[in-house]
Amino acid sequence: MPQPAQPPRALLPAPDAMQDELTADIRRTLSQARIEPVRLPDCGGLKLYLLGADFPQAALSPAEMQAALNEPAYWIFCWASGLALARRILREPALVRGRKVLDFGAGSGVVACAAALAGAREVVACDIDPSSLRATAANAALNGVSVRLAGDFFALTEDFDLVLAADVLYDRANHHFLTAFLERAPAVLVADSRVKNLQVPPYVLAAEEDAGTLPDLNEFDEFRHVRFYTAQR
Ligand SMILES: C[S@@+](CC[C@H](N)C(=O)[O-])C[C@H]1O[C@@H](n2cnc3c(N)ncnc32)[C@H](O)[C@@H]1O
Repeated sequence: MPQPAQPPRALLPAPDAMQDELTADIRRTLSQARIEPVRLPDCGGLKLYLLGADFPQAALSPAEMQAALNEPAYWIFCWASGLALARRILREPALVRGRKVLDFGAGSGVVACAAALAGAREVVACDIDPSSLRATAANAALNGVSVRLAGDFFALTEDFDLVLAADVLYDRANHHFLTAFLERAPAVLVADSRVKNLQVPPYVLAAEEDAGTLPDLNEFDEFRHVRFYTAQR
């Protein structure tokens, strides 16, 4: 599949228009949803277009609930693992500085934007959801950084210095990507709050920290504990 190119900045809609376009996108499934720019805590000014914190979750109609389950719009949230990984990258920019980085399962593009802000040489954001790629392009523009977009990991033929992935292991079908990442890059850093004890050699638990999903989903405490797994080949 050809990789969708990010339009040059001058051709991107103005920030308000991007917010309106993302709101129109999510309203196809959640009629009362509103997207708004949110400044992330402890992320050095990184902002994202996310679901408004006042979204009335209790007011979902059965049809909307079904649509939301059939087509989950992950990009409207900054997941706890993405927030923790973005914070870590911005705290330790040497992790990515000067490197060509892939953010797998980009969602809102939070990790891709953090890597670009921290000085990565080149950043590619990969997600199978086209709405996620639109959100990532909007969030890259919102933060004044350049992020290239890709829909299918296996259509990428290039190599990377580092693969990053946050909150993608909730689906066991994604675990085989852990091996595929090491065929594309000599180093991988995965952040995850769903898998407590990842048993996939050569991945090892490297660090842990707490973070919460934005807007707050009132998740169980166990999903606020993020583990960083690393692997080298
Ligand atoms: C829970 S969200 C995490 C988003 C972001 N990394 C974060 O932490 O906020 C998982 C994302 O992975 C994407 N995803 C799942 N399977 C994928 C695959 N096989 N290839 C690319 N993206 C995938 C989903 O579309 C979704 O956007």
